[in-house]
Amino acid sequence: MPILEQQTARDRDGQALPKVPVPPLKQTLDMYLKCVQHLVKEEQFKKTKAIVEKFGAPGGTGEVLQKKLLERRDKTTNWVYDYWLEDMYLNNRLALPVNSSPVMVFPKQAFRDHKDALRFAARLIRGVLEYKALIDARRLPVEFARGQLAGTPMCMEQYNRLFTSYRYPGLKTDTLKVQMNAASSAPEHIIVACKNQFFVLDIVANSKQLNETEISSQLEKIMKMAENAEDRLPPVGILTSDERTEWAQARDALIKDQINRDSLALIESCLCVVCLDEPNGLAPNDTNRALLMLHGGGRERNGANRWYDKSMQFVIGMDGICGVVCDHSPFEGIVLVQCSEYLMKYITGTPSKVATSSSIRELPPPGRLLWKCNPHIQGLLKASGDRLQRLVNNLDMDVFKFEVYGKEFIKKQKMSPDAFIQVALQLAFYKCNGRLVSTYESASIRRFQEGRVDNIRSATAEALAFVKSMKDDRGTFTDSEKMKRLRDAINAQTNYTIAAITGMAIDNHLLGLLRIAKELKMEKPEIFCDETYLASNQFILSTSQVPTTVEMFCCYGPVVPNGYGACYNPQSDHIIFCVSSFWESTQTSSAVFVKALNEGLLEIRDLCNSSSAAATKPTDSSQGAGQSRKSGK
Ligand code: COA
Repeated sequence: MPILEQQTARDRDGQALPKVPVPPLKQTLDMYLKCVQHLVKEEQFKKTKAIVEKFGAPGGTGEVLQKKLLERRDKTTNWVYDYWLEDMYLNNRLALPVNSSPVMVFPKQAFRDHKDALRFAARLIRGVLEYKALIDARRLPVEFARGQLAGTPMCMEQYNRLFTSYRYPGLKTDTLKVQMNAASSAPEHIIVACKNQFFVLDIVANSKQLNETEISSQLEKIMKMAENAEDRLPPVGILTSDERTEWAQARDALIKDQINRDSLALIESCLCVVCLDEPNGLAPNDTNRALLMLHGGGRERNGANRWYDKSMQFVIGMDGICGVVCDHSPFEGIVLVQCSEYLMKYITGTPSKVATSSSIRELPPPGRLLWKCNPHIQGLLKASGDRLQRLVNNLDMDVFKFEVYGKEFIKKQKMSPDAFIQVALQLAFYKCNGRLVSTYESASIRRFQEGRVDNIRSATAEALAFVKSMKDDRGTFTDSEKMKRLRDAINAQTNYTIAAITGMAIDNHLLGLLRIAKELKMEKPEIFCDETYLASNQFILSTSQVPTTVEMFCCYGPVVPNGYGACYNPQSDHIIFCVSSFWESTQTSSAVFVKALNEGLLEIRDLCNSSSAAATKPTDSSQGAGQSRKSGK
């Protein structure tokens, strides 16, 4: 495939990508009411409607804020970027593992011994270096949108942050720092974690990058050094798994000592972290591999063999359990997938460049990062370990491969596969709870400059009408009525998707208005204090499509204590769902949700099949003719 030079993505006429639009105020307020009406009690909705109308009235607060927001749009490259980043990630105080950091789970590797695992790691590191060189040379091919509104170029800016970002914990808010001079000749290094110890692997020696064999031999030295129990230092990495304010406080304690400051500086400036994990002793099925990638198995396993602030952490388990853990703030899952797929193809596809003995240099062993931990810090390590343990015990994960059908069956129904799956998720939730709840589906807005995502609120009124018809035990609804409702639900979902990817969704806009009010030091407008608004931002169902073309899958945890995370990967003939929730919540169960999802997907298939069978039945059967009329739309 010819590689187009990567640049600021441009449209076909060579124009720079457009700026994220600010939707008209009335449009957003109307859409907001439409999104929440069927999710709140009637009385509450009446109250909300009055508040929204007052906010949007001519000369009202909404107009003032909208005007300022339009000014901000003119002045900035992307008016929502900072607001969104802070709201979605940096202000969130929850621990990164499970709550925020998504992971890619690689296929289980069959390593014969640790040398095999280190060869794999060395290859992966070489792949990272090649990929980074492509990014730095701006030679990654510009991506074009697929699916809905296919063909528009996508902003490539997120790629520049893959290996250059670091998220510093803060007492109130975190800071995401991106090294701007990434392509400079500054010395480059990777941090390798092994047995909770951290080592600096310089990837350049005498102005030349290390080859695969040299990297492998350096990793071998690291493993040997880590094995020596006498030299072992406290498991400082566990602090990064903690809640952000706790970690910020611990970091303040750490940096009082110069030794710790030096070690932190090396971690904070590395390209990525490579975690060489101990065997976990768990069956390497999909669910266990997902769990281990999300939290490392806690203190007793590899929970401290991590540094969560770094945007890319590659995990290579000696037992063949491998994947990537990433801090979500610099980029989206789609970028993570592209990078992971490149690496997997690099590892499996490129013939191993076995270095000749003359090209293997004698290199000094990698240095171990040193830590000075006083009793206070030792206490913090224990407290962080306890909190991680609670998170580990709390995560209820179920990776479910639905193998009855995939995207192709759905396309044959002339339906959008993504919308279909979203409606099926609504059906599953309804089956479990008898109601729908505020749902988040990420929609890419990379068609715009520095675009990240907005939200498709998938719990539409049409979805509610459909799921009610499917759960109707009294047989009130004929198949053709159910089918009509299914099509309405899918159309509503598809229309929302199109609105979202063209910058016309409501979440970013409402956030922008709220933040402008704050900047103007106005009293918080009533619309944002309203119970409905608060509930509508509690995403009990947090969903995302993360498709892959190579065998691997993405997953993440729920975003609220009583919620589900549902990441899905649609393939032509099957769909992988990664459903997560918390054991501590009595309202959720991943297994129960998965069971309902499976049932729902089968019921929708049966409905589609019976509807198309009815549509093709000869008209001489009176029953067939009747059904045919009802279902034919
Ligand atoms: N009939 C037949 N085929 C249809 C169809 C219909 N009515 N509607 C869509 N299709 C086809 C599309 O042409 C597309 O075909 P392709 O596989 O050949 O490309 C395919 O079905 C998929 O389209 P669809 O299911 O509608 O979804 P999409 O690919 O447009 O995806 C989103 C929708 C919202 C997931 C996508 O726009 C997006 O934003 N993705 C990024 C999500 C993200 O950021 N995830 C990571 C978060 S960390």
